[in-house]
Amino acid sequence: MENFTELSKYAKAFSGLTPEREASLLAAGPDIKPHLPEITEQFYAHLLAVPSANRFLEGRVAALKATHLRWMEGLFSGPFDDSYTQAMYRVGAVHVQVKLPVEFMAGGMTILQQKLSDLVYSIYQDSPGQVQTLIKSINAVIGFTLIVMQQSYQASTIAEELDKFLKISGISRILFANLAKAYKD
Ligand code: HEM
Repeated sequence: MENFTELSKYAKAFSGLTPEREASLLAAGPDIKPHLPEITEQFYAHLLAVPSANRFLEGRVAALKATHLRWMEGLFSGPFDDSYTQAMYRVGAVHVQVKLPVEFMAGGMTILQQKLSDLVYSIYQDSPGQVQTLIKSINAVIGFTLIVMQQSYQASTIAEELDKFLKISGISRILFANLAKAYKD
């Protein structure tokens, strides 16, 4: 079981998601949130143009758009506490279950960074300081989320591979755990 307090601390330190940046995301929420449905549309239009992404989206686009919009609204509402980390860790595992390649996470987040940056420039074009602050905050929260989701990808993939190995080899989980404990490299 993952320690979500430790994972939050680690991912925040790495991505630079400071309390000041969290506060700037929340403060911008009322300006940004009304535009997020457009960003969702642009995100899925972009994904649908990626040939390898298509088969994961067929028949699900409407539901995914709603889920995605809710998640993006959360980026400008917070809180980015251990529950957020735990929820995004689970979302990473859901993507492993649907066999989404790991690079789709980084690819998806990159698209969002571009769309959200364009939005910030257009809303705050007369306040360069505000643009700079918000872009750094958006990059930080997206980086934070990506680290959590990828951590979960790694753990879920290893767990799936181990299950497969135990099934094929007929070794019990207890025997495997004892062998692993006894093995010294
Ligand atoms: C980049 C950031 C992404 C975020 C934050 C995100 C977020 C989510 C969330 C919150 C869920 C719902 C999980 C649940 O069942 O509780 C989900 C499910 C899913 N996502 Fe993503 N997603 C991302 C990228 C992508 C991409 C790039 C694709 C495909 C090209 C994708 C395809 C899916 C699919 C197929 C499901 C499962 C839907 C189902 O259960 O039918 N996601 N995602």
